[in-house]
Amino acid sequence: MHREPSTPHIRREDPPAILPGEFDALFHGEARTGGFSRVARIVDPALPPEAEPFSFLCTDLLHHIAAELALKEGEVLADLGCGRGGPGLWLARAAHADLVGVDFSPVAVAQARQRAATYAMKGTAHFVVNGLTTTGLPRASVSAAVSIDALQYADDRAAAAQEARRILRPSGRLVVTGWHPLSPGDPRLPERHRHSDWPAVLCAAGFTAVECHARPAWSDTYESIYRVALQLGDPGPDTALAGLQSEARRRLPTAHLLRRVAVTAVSG
Ligand SMILES: C[S@@+](CC[C@H](N)C(=O)[O-])C[C@H]1O[C@@H](n2cnc3c(N)ncnc32)[C@H](O)[C@@H]1O
Repeated sequence: MHREPSTPHIRREDPPAILPGEFDALFHGEARTGGFSRVARIVDPALPPEAEPFSFLCTDLLHHIAAELALKEGEVLADLGCGRGGPGLWLARAAHADLVGVDFSPVAVAQARQRAATYAMKGTAHFVVNGLTTTGLPRASVSAAVSIDALQYADDRAAAAQEARRILRPSGRLVVTGWHPLSPGDPRLPERHRHSDWPAVLCAAGFTAVECHARPAWSDTYESIYRVALQLGDPGPDTALAGLQSEARRRLPTAHLLRRVAVTAVSG
C-alpha cells in the first residue's frame, strides 16, 4: 500500500456534466442483461455476490473501505452516488449500521430500494434521488460517508466535497474512490481524470487527516474488467456487455496511465 502526502493546491477542472438519463439507460440495460456483473464476477469471484457493484470495486478495496470507515453498530452511513445500492448495503449490514443512499438516477435508486429488501434492510436503508452537490440530507446527520467511483461525475467537485462535509457529523469519516493520473495533466487521459487530485479537493473543503491509499490489485481489477469484457467477444443481445466493450476499447489503451485510489478524510 502506498500513502501519498496531500497536495496543498487545488486544480479546478470540472469536466462536462453527465446527465441522470445517461445513467438511467445504463442501469436499465444492466438490469436486462447483467453484462457488467458477469464480467465483474469473472474478474473477482471472491466479491460478495450481493455487493454487485456497478463500479470497479474489488474484494480487497471493499474490505479496505470497511476498515477505513470503521462503522459502529447503529451509526448512519451515507453512500454518495450509490447506484443500485449493493456496496453501501454490504458495508452498512456488515457493521449493523443504517444506510442512506443518494443518487441522481431514479432507475438506480429504484433498483437500490429493491435490493434493500434482499438484504433484509428495508427499515434501516433509505435511498433518495438527489445530486452529489445537493443531497437534501440534513447537516451533521450521518456518521460516515462513502463514494465509490461516483464523485468524479459531480459537475462541481469542490461543491460535492463541501456537501459531504456538511452532512457529516464532527469527526465523521469519508472514503472516496477514484483515479489519479500518474502524470497530472497527461493529455492522453480522459478529461475526467486528467487533473484529479482528491486529497487536494478534500483538504480545500476543510477535511482533515486526508490520506490517499493505492494498491496494485485495485488498478489490476480496473484493467481486468476491460480486458475480460473484450475477451468475451460477440456480446450478442447483451447490450450492457456491448456498452462495456465499447468503453473498454476507448479506455484500456490509457488505463495504465491511471492509478486507482481510495482517499480517507475526517470531517473536522
Ligand atoms: C460508476 S457508478 C457507481 C455506483 C455505486 N457507487 C457502485 O459502486 O456500484 C456512478 C454513480 O454515480 C451516480 N452519479 C453520477 N453523477 C451524479 C450526480 N451528479 N449526482 C448524484 N449521483 C451521480 C450515477 O448515477 C451512478 O449511479
